[in-house]
Amino acid sequence: GSLVGVAALLLGGGFLWLWNDAEISTVGEEDFANELAIPPLAKSRVAEDGTRVFDLRMRKGTKEFRAGRPTPTWGFNQSYLGPTLRAERGEKVRVRVRNGLDETSSVHWHGMHLPARMDGGPHQPVRAGATWTPHWKVDQPASTLWYHPHPHGKTEKHVQRGLAGMFLLDDEKTRKLALPKRYGVDDLPLIVQDVKFDGDRFDHGHAMMRNVGFLGDRTMVNGTLSPHRTVKDERVRLRLLNASTARSYHFGFDDDRDFTLVGTDGGLLERPDRMNRVKLSPGERAEIVVRMRPGERTVLRGYSGAVGGDSFQRRFSGDDDSFDVLQLRAARTLRSSPPVPGELGELEVPKGENPARKRRFTLRMGQINGKAMDMKRVDATVTRGTEEVWTVKNEDMPHNFHVHDVQFRVLEIDGKRPTGTLRGPKDTVFIPAGSTAKLAMRFEGPSDPKTPYMFHCHLLYHEDLGMMGQFTVVEPGEKAARVPGAGGGH
Ligand code: C2O
Ligand code: CU
Repeated sequence: GSLVGVAALLLGGGFLWLWNDAEISTVGEEDFANELAIPPLAKSRVAEDGTRVFDLRMRKGTKEFRAGRPTPTWGFNQSYLGPTLRAERGEKVRVRVRNGLDETSSVHWHGMHLPARMDGGPHQPVRAGATWTPHWKVDQPASTLWYHPHPHGKTEKHVQRGLAGMFLLDDEKTRKLALPKRYGVDDLPLIVQDVKFDGDRFDHGHAMMRNVGFLGDRTMVNGTLSPHRTVKDERVRLRLLNASTARSYHFGFDDDRDFTLVGTDGGLLERPDRMNRVKLSPGERAEIVVRMRPGERTVLRGYSGAVGGDSFQRRFSGDDDSFDVLQLRAARTLRSSPPVPGELGELEVPKGENPARKRRFTLRMGQINGKAMDMKRVDATVTRGTEEVWTVKNEDMPHNFHVHDVQFRVLEIDGKRPTGTLRGPKDTVFIPAGSTAKLAMRFEGPSDPKTPYMFHCHLLYHEDLGMMGQFTVVEPGEKAARVPGAGGGH
């Protein structure tokens, strides 16, 4: 594992200089021949005690992304990706997760506030043939969350074979707002991934010397290649999820139209924001509302770079590439939609005014604070019910930073006030090379000194190399406990 990985990072950085520009940027152009698939809403039943119960089964399959060419895949309840789970704030949920694969995996609820034992990280492995049944009470604002495996050292592989899905949360406040909300009609989930094919199979190989991990040569939305979607409403809400394992995108339309950013990882912004590009690194989400005119077509693209760093850094991270993502086709007549409200409600993330603790993290060479992930080492012990400010400095190539269990507020990036998506509730933040982000978060518990949550880079290859650490939540005055290692997670 990680030593080899660190060596690869070091070597790659040096040799890359020998490569020329032409070989290294990709322009994915599509003909939009296929109708975009919308992930089905997961069926659920309500148990006697009022708990909403879902069933997810990880399985192998094949899918014809291209007609007549079946590709081996993995999925939840279907051959590729998984259904959209949906629950209401205040509701108790339980998910019966069955592993129908031949190897150990896990299912993590990305962005969810929940007890550490239900988190689905590397400490909750689900062995081949086994069933794991986490349950918790949804206690956070309406938001676009997602789920994916998190087995230690193998997350990239499990996600890119197709194990990912959305988990939407609703609440009363958001339901009353005049935002497009008809699932699959004017409220579209968009799971964006980059892919590469080698004949009929996926090619998951890492491009030589690109140390971010896998980079595909085209994109796919909800498992549909070259997609278009016909829309019949004047305003359409797009819930963008960057489910790619390494690639970041600057999403925008080919005619440079403005759209309205209404939400980020953990829910709605206080006030909507107009823009024509939104950057998402792996794991991040954005909810945007785009206005359509009758009969027109527009293409959502993932534009290349300028995320900071020099051109070397951009090529190195695939950030000089650009892709056609999805064509929107407006019907000849459109139902009118109300304008986006000017106020969306208060953020529930802390302001960082009274931190009980401040911590510093540095990201460098596949490690955090100079250490690779160790399942038995707890890197931070936080006290339940307290607020903390974490300062995260990225000392090398592009990385992002994800914290389990919480949504945080970005207080500053390089000393400046945040703009755009960084003004909303976040659980994952892109940190350009050389930059520092200051984050405020509150740990609500419950305490569990023996079960850690993770924080890590969400470029999954980096995470797998060990660019990850662990924290536990304890009662005031309580000491950190010994944490058992992997229960078969390898
Ligand atoms: Cu989406 Cu720890 O991961
Ligand atoms: Cu990274």
